[in-house]
Amino acid sequence: MASRLYNWLDSRLKLKPIQKTLLDEPIPGGASWIYVFGSATLFLFLTQALTGMFLAVYYAPTPDHAYDSVQFIEQELWFGGFVRGLHHWGASAMVIAIGLHMLQVFLYGAYKPPREMMWIAGVVLFLITMGFAFTGYLLPWDQNAYWATQVGINMAGTVPLVGDLLVRVLRGGETLGALTLSRFFAVHVLFLPSLLIAGIMLHLFILRRVGPAGPWTDERATLSHETFYPRQVFMDAVVMLGVFAVLALLAAMVPFPLADKANPADTSFVPVPEWYFLFYYQLLKYVHGPLEPLATWVLPALFMLILFLWPFIDRNPVRNPTRRPMALGTGAAFLAVVFVLLGISLRDLYAVPHVDPEVARGKELYAQFGCSGCHRIHGEGAAVAPDLSFVGDERPDREWHLRHFRDPASVSPGSFMPKFPLTEAQLNDLTSYMLSLKRQS
Ligand code: HEC
Repeated sequence: MASRLYNWLDSRLKLKPIQKTLLDEPIPGGASWIYVFGSATLFLFLTQALTGMFLAVYYAPTPDHAYDSVQFIEQELWFGGFVRGLHHWGASAMVIAIGLHMLQVFLYGAYKPPREMMWIAGVVLFLITMGFAFTGYLLPWDQNAYWATQVGINMAGTVPLVGDLLVRVLRGGETLGALTLSRFFAVHVLFLPSLLIAGIMLHLFILRRVGPAGPWTDERATLSHETFYPRQVFMDAVVMLGVFAVLALLAAMVPFPLADKANPADTSFVPVPEWYFLFYYQLLKYVHGPLEPLATWVLPALFMLILFLWPFIDRNPVRNPTRRPMALGTGAAFLAVVFVLLGISLRDLYAVPHVDPEVARGKELYAQFGCSGCHRIHGEGAAVAPDLSFVGDERPDREWHLRHFRDPASVSPGSFMPKFPLTEAQLNDLTSYMLSLKRQS
């Protein structure tokens, strides 16, 4: 049945030659699991495109509505949290997949002649992906989004000569605001996807013209002339399925809550970037004063330049990694620096902060007495009563809290907050917890 339909279509649309070009491409040395990262990246891009389209149905790119619309997607919309989770984890997965893809190409020396153009097109795709990451981060319009983007834009401002222009182009106005959000949204959902699709087509076109690189020695390359279909197609499909399963699991199990809504007045907020920018964020902490431009633009620009020109810098014609000590050494040194910086940054971020036992007990009481039935802390809980996220800044007086807990209406006339049956010790713990809720601890 299917084959009769195919024959019918083929007699009209002449599909068989296309099938031949698409599936019968020979792979030197045969199919291998090591070649799956390119397809995995492509698959992840398609997942991002699809989930992004659905998110865009509900997302509103204005400072007044962006945060609430994401909150709505996350909490109210049927499957909204799941789709947002897929998009969020998909972005990280895409960075990992590209990284592994580049690593494989690097190890196999697959960027060497005649494939220099493939490498360059690939670096462009990598940059576009970073553009997606940067523009996408602002869209939820929470504190992290706002202040991390502020940092990014300020860094662009340190580039000599064109810095001011860059800032104006990125920001759209005098301050980070409505104009910035609409242009980041437009770039994220219109400009970058178009560029990426064009880039992928170019990348694949070049691949089809020069052919896949295959193993690094001619002996191995001539061992097999297996075609792309069926074994490589099968391997790619298995990996795509596996990648999707992991994403779905993460999206379903690991919530990714928003931080507080962006508050442009709160200049004390210290943003945390996505994990793949953490190593760089750590680097920025080490440079101060006159050395700052080194980290904010000299090193990144130099890195990009070297990346682009790499096939022309590494002139060694040998592809076998055991006989390329310079190239492999350079690559390993770079990765070592990145991972050490990432490690330090993660250690600092997740170092178990010393929690005062009173505060910890107070936090438990807060949950036990159902305070979140009326109060909200960093987006969690009902908004019937005052938001307590920063109550320690707003009401720093311990005595006030003690009196308030004993009898709310005595200090806040007309308060409908119940009098909780608290022991003296519990009163004390709960108050310590309230006082600990500050902007900067
Ligand atoms: C039935 C709803 C309700 C519950 C439950 C509730 N509160 Fe309240 N709370 C209020 C209301 C209304 C106010 C504002 C009036 C006032 O200050 O009493 C308030 C005020 C506060 C304030 C002062 C906030 C400010 O900025 O003025 C604190 C602190 C507080 N509550 C802590 C708690 C804690 C801790 C619990 C749990 C043990 C709790 N609340 C449970 C309704 C509630």
